[in-house]
Amino acid sequence: MSKIILAIETSCDDTGIAILKISGGKQKPLLRSSSFAGQATFTLLANELSSQAHLHSPYGGVFPNLAKREHTKNLPILLTRAIKTAFKLPQGRTLKVPQGPTFSQFEKNPGIDAIAVTIGPGLEPALWTGIVFTKELGKKWSVPIIPVNHMEGHIFSVFKKNGKKFSTRPNGRDISVGRVPNFQFPALSLLISGGHTELVLIDKKMSYKIIGETRDDAVGEAFDKVARILGLPYPGGPHIARLAKQKRKSLQGRTLGIQKGPTFSRLSFPRPMIYSKDFDFSFSGLKTAVLYFSQKQKVLTDKIKCAISKEFQDAVTDVLVYKTNKAIIKYKIKTLIVGGGVSANKNIKKALTKMTKMQKVKIFFPEKNMAMDNAIMIGVAGYLRSFEKIKKGKLRAIGNLRLHK
Ligand code: KG4
Ligand code: ZN
Repeated sequence: MSKIILAIETSCDDTGIAILKISGGKQKPLLRSSSFAGQATFTLLANELSSQAHLHSPYGGVFPNLAKREHTKNLPILLTRAIKTAFKLPQGRTLKVPQGPTFSQFEKNPGIDAIAVTIGPGLEPALWTGIVFTKELGKKWSVPIIPVNHMEGHIFSVFKKNGKKFSTRPNGRDISVGRVPNFQFPALSLLISGGHTELVLIDKKMSYKIIGETRDDAVGEAFDKVARILGLPYPGGPHIARLAKQKRKSLQGRTLGIQKGPTFSRLSFPRPMIYSKDFDFSFSGLKTAVLYFSQKQKVLTDKIKCAISKEFQDAVTDVLVYKTNKAIIKYKIKTLIVGGGVSANKNIKKALTKMTKMQKVKIFFPEKNMAMDNAIMIGVAGYLRSFEKIKKGKLRAIGNLRLHK
């Protein structure tokens, strides 16, 4: 027996819709029992994602009402495509792409057992769009709705491996990915995205405790703001990473005697809160250091931009690695799960991998395209939590929803 879940993600500037078939697991009725879902194999039937980054680019960040408008426009279009792909509608039977938020196309349930939807954290106008859409579908199709915490989605994003099929097996001690029992507790999650920077302690029951978080800007936000200072497009993370790589390459060339000219190797930005006693972070001072340094330059040449990018990225990496390492030692962590858009950063990835190797800790990253916001991770988290009772009135957008169970 299998279940089919439709997952909807609209917390920020990406509209995501995924359809997942789940087999195995305990297969109790959805939303009834209070236990974790057991081993399950997920098959990805459809995955649709529409990024609005280009529309928000002129604002240097996400503009909430624009995001809301775009989600409203995108949701019916993406759902139509996803249903077509997942249920392989025979030739001739076509679903017309609806214009605007109309539900007339979705009168008949194509075979969905439950809908998982992100309820927070995120931008409330954006979250509401997904929730209202989900409620409407839930009513039409008479299926249960599973509210999902976006950050838990990022944690579970590491489950998807290699192609369309992947599985989980929580047995109280380990969670297996595929057949390998390698997800061991206590685990720690470093969640680094445009909206969050958190260190989360995870016990064997998959309950959470936030042990550290940013006191001001999130890491991704700092990448985006620094990119803006340097005149680079939004989202800035990948652009900063690209320029930092150029600088690193030029330094390699220098040691080989290939390149001449100033290197700005003495450029140094602060590592905020690196030696603070807690596990909190702060990135706004680092961004300000970049701003002041940039303002002092007569011209922000490409060379200077590359030097700034590298030093900024190194500073962020140092802080993240140092604090995560400290938490691993203190809490005797066995598994580190890294999630969120910034986990795609190769420099950070490499440094965290090196550190966990020394600590003999297993490390998981989301595979390519799973680091950024998407609906697959919402479907996985939704299924794994679907066995818990949903409290009445829980289906509302909660912009500052926290990760604790
Ligand atoms: O998780 P995500 O897609 O959305 C949020 O929930 O925030 O993360 C987006 C963030 C943006 O700030 C973006 O600049 C950053 O992730 N990002 C990166 C990289 N790719 C995306 N930051 C650093 N290096 C990257 N390669
Ligand atoms: Zn996210």
